[in-house]
Amino acid sequence: MIVAIDGPTAAGKGTLARLLARDLGFAYLDTGSLYRAVGLALLRTGHSPDDEAAAVAAARSLGSDLLTDPGLRDEATGNAASRVAAMPAVRAALLDYQREFARRPPGGARGAVLDGRDIGTVVCPDATVKLFVTAAPEVRARRRHLELSGRGEDVPFAQVLADLNERDRRDQARAAAPLRPAPDAHLLDTSDLAIDAALARAKAIIAGRM
Ligand code: CDP
Repeated sequence: MIVAIDGPTAAGKGTLARLLARDLGFAYLDTGSLYRAVGLALLRTGHSPDDEAAAVAAARSLGSDLLTDPGLRDEATGNAASRVAAMPAVRAALLDYQREFARRPPGGARGAVLDGRDIGTVVCPDATVKLFVTAAPEVRARRRHLELSGRGEDVPFAQVLADLNERDRRDQARAAAPLRPAPDAHLLDTSDLAIDAALARAKAIIAGRM
């Protein structure tokens, strides 16, 4: 059983995916953290996020230290992640790990939940259930702003909204695995849904497919 969850930045897919995995007893992979770790590796070593050779090298040698680094969630890391994510060689370097996780979930779990941008389209086109989670840009910017200030990162709201629009544009326009719903994905708009309502909606969709 593979549950694929895709959608734009701050749509609430990470929270939803984590809760679904918990309730289903599945393993969970936040694939965005892989791209974030590559972005963070570049920032930490003084490389530009547009340095493709350095990004590919980082993607090929990702260690658990970076994947658990608190800097992973920083706004700057997210922006660097979206730049390296546009490089086909970086995506190729991260593909096997994601597919292997889905095929053989760690800990003997009988299924996996993966969230990202291209899970239903590229990583797991045969996923049992595909969800495409969205919300209006202003709603997503408000959530991201709240998350950042909760972590003590004071980015002005207008800046968060501008970053988010820029990231959406880049994720959708890139040639390699652009952000778009798979033809067989169920759309879930969380603009007016609290997390428990979104979770209930997602579970109903999954139950219908199991
Ligand atoms: O949490 P947020 O939605 O801001 O971002 P994320 O899911 O952590 O992903 C960070 C960046 O990685 C995104 O802007 C995408 O460009 C990229 N990404 C991707 O290209 N493919 C994935 N499967 C996951 C993330």
